[in-house]
Amino acid sequence: MRRKVTVIGAGNVGANTAQKIAAKELADVVLVDVVEGIPQGKSLDMLESAPVEGYDVHLTGTNGYEETANSDIVVITAGFPRKPGMSRDDLLIANYEVVKSATEQAARHSPNAILILVTNPLDAMCWTALTVSGFSRERVIGMAGVLDTARFRTFIAEELSVSFENVTAMVLGGHGDTMVPLVRLTNVSGIPLSELTDQATIDRLVQRTRDGGAEIVKYLKTGSAYYAPAASTVEMVESILKDKKKVLPCAVFLRGEYGIQDLFVGVPVRLGAAGVEKIYEVKLMEDETAALAKSAEAVKELVEVLKQKAK
Ligand code: NAI
Ligand code: 2OP
Repeated sequence: MRRKVTVIGAGNVGANTAQKIAAKELADVVLVDVVEGIPQGKSLDMLESAPVEGYDVHLTGTNGYEETANSDIVVITAGFPRKPGMSRDDLLIANYEVVKSATEQAARHSPNAILILVTNPLDAMCWTALTVSGFSRERVIGMAGVLDTARFRTFIAEELSVSFENVTAMVLGGHGDTMVPLVRLTNVSGIPLSELTDQATIDRLVQRTRDGGAEIVKYLKTGSAYYAPAASTVEMVESILKDKKKVLPCAVFLRGEYGIQDLFVGVPVRLGAAGVEKIYEVKLMEDETAALAKSAEAVKELVEVLKQKAK
């Protein structure tokens, strides 16, 4: 039987995610949006690529949730993106309402689904989805670390003129200015980054990674990145649907791991058929632990605002 993935939000990230899922023949896709005609038109357009591209999956667009019933995975991209000068956190309240309503409806129709959150501010939206759905923490996962790590890997590969594939890296923490690129564990085919370039260059690449989202916003002016975010989301979808058990940095609800309590923060996890199958607690140096704690503190501030609102 074919698998089913619902993508909520048929905007830039959502539509590209749907298209990549279809192109890889991972699952049938239901695209949902509040704007009438957009999910229908985009999914039909993608379906009409099937004979040319040679994929045999079904794509459906809708403004409701009936068609989403019994999805294996629900990806939530619905909400507002950043404009120049805005931080991800500026989106907090507006996107809280969107994610709350999308989660309620998606969870009702697909009680066994795994939720992948994309909407910003990411870690706070994950908390919203976990709270509203009542799902176990293994089934509510945030996409950010894969994207932030992809950006870090891209900048390193370009700097050193090596294949993108040869660069291994891991960016932890919240999806914001306090994210934590773990330089100590970054290497090119096993060669530590610190042996390949000087500290000033590493610092520059780390800063560019932290500013990676803003760099794209500055170019686009009317929205934020979507090709790499969609690709990163689909890597997570694929690992779950194919039970590949990839180890990827994802936002997960920590219950004491890394000394962090009841917050979504990006850490390495194993993604398989059950969702988050294992959380890896990497031994961190003192400065790395402090950076992760600072990042968790930034996430906590946003969640506290939402907790007040939810009262
Ligand atoms: P977009 O504006 O292109 O698309 C958002 C879509 O959500 C629109 O089509 C809108 O009509 C729809 N929408 C709004 N309210 C809805 C509701 N209640 N139900 C269903 N659909 C609804 O924005 P884009 O570029 O696709 O970004 C989406 C979100 O993803 C933003 O919050 C953005 O900041 C976030 N994002 C997060 C990333 C991450 O690393 N976690 C990376 C890139 C984007
Ligand atoms: C990004 O990092 C906006 O969070 C989004 O591109």
